[in-house]
Amino acid sequence: MCGPQTTAVQGKGWLTMKTVRDGNQMPRRSFFNLFWGFCGLIAAFELIGVALAFLRPLPSKPLGETAEALVVAGRTGSFQPGSVTPFVRGKFYLACLNDGGFLALSRKCPHLGCTVPWNAETGRFACPCHGSAFDIAGDVLQAPAPRPLDLFPIRIENGVIRVDTSRPLKRSGFTSEQVAYADSSQVLADTPHSRGRPSTF
Ligand code: FES
Repeated sequence: MCGPQTTAVQGKGWLTMKTVRDGNQMPRRSFFNLFWGFCGLIAAFELIGVALAFLRPLPSKPLGETAEALVVAGRTGSFQPGSVTPFVRGKFYLACLNDGGFLALSRKCPHLGCTVPWNAETGRFACPCHGSAFDIAGDVLQAPAPRPLDLFPIRIENGVIRVDTSRPLKRSGFTSEQVAYADSSQVLADTPHSRGRPSTF
């Protein structure tokens, strides 16, 4: 049994009640030490919890569901056939093909990821890192790139081009199905692509 006990004590002929401590009772200082230690432990656990919550990677939300991933590139009439326009936001090129179709090309080299600049004079993308080259449709002209530049899906509505930069699509080659045309509601899908060169180039 813990805690103070009341014990009958004989003294000067009177039976008095005296509170005595039993041998197991914890001294007051020890009690407070234990109390503050316990509080410290709780605080430490809370700090660890906060730290873990801070360090834990955020759940990856598909960018396709966010407005930030959708880039309004402009109106179809504002791009010259045979031109390539770089977009900083979204990190892509909008290629306007000779037949007026559009492709949104990733600027990331599929070899080792260098940024690939467009050279309007030579009419090709030329990677400065290992010499890969791509045509205006992003198809490989020169190795070591193992595949064409990735594509971003395009939607054209009422003459306005919107590019979904959330999901670059890998492809094994260029096909005409990849091209979006004015006022078509075409959206590129993740479909297998066969190798081939467009007749418009
Ligand atoms: S990163 Fe472009 S060729 Fe190697």
